[in-house]
Amino acid sequence: MAEATIQNVGACVFDAYGTLFDFNAATASCRDALGDKAAPLSAAWRDKQLQYTWLRSLMGKHADFWQVTGEALDYAMDSLDLDDPALRDRLLNCYLELEAFAEVPETLERLKSGGLKTAILSNGSPQMLAAAVKGAGIGDLLDAVLSVEEVGVFKTHPSVYQLAVDWLGGAASEICFQSSNSWDAYAGSAFGFQVVWVNRYGQKPERMPGQPNAEITTLADLPPLLGL
Ligand code: LAC
Repeated sequence: MAEATIQNVGACVFDAYGTLFDFNAATASCRDALGDKAAPLSAAWRDKQLQYTWLRSLMGKHADFWQVTGEALDYAMDSLDLDDPALRDRLLNCYLELEAFAEVPETLERLKSGGLKTAILSNGSPQMLAAAVKGAGIGDLLDAVLSVEEVGVFKTHPSVYQLAVDWLGGAASEICFQSSNSWDAYAGSAFGFQVVWVNRYGQKPERMPGQPNAEITTLADLPPLLGL
């Protein structure tokens, strides 16, 4: 087998939304009510959700990701002239039970049987992450679920990435971090992780500090990068 691209790591740490869990599944499961607004609503919801995390972190006005996700949905629905409180509740409930991408359980199993620790590092609140992990049935395949709520600020603040270092012990470079969010991948790299950018959405390279060590399109391609 070819030499591994990613070497000397003790753990694989994963972003949650978009990387392990498919956030588009929430609007897709309400397509009966949304029709052709499902895709634009999902995009507007996600964009606003992320903007609010960055803005709140700059403003020093943290609120947990559940509140931010609800406020972003309110904005996104408003922008598409959707005024339907029952649909809002339904969408948020779906967000709690997002499906994992198909390859996630087998990938985690391969990493664990290869002797690596596994963890989530996410903006999600502990309650949201617990619900998603339970719904996907991957709790036994994770050694830790780390939430930004421990530090009260969102990604890309370095104190968030430091949570994973503190959990594992040792150097940041001993962590292989996976994110489908280009900005998260670059920021994790700038922090000092080895990074695999899971470019599921065909994003362009960022022009910001950091440089992912590898780029893949699904997590099924991760184990070979680690020599597994
Ligand atoms: C997360 C978001 C950024 O899970 O996807 O942290």
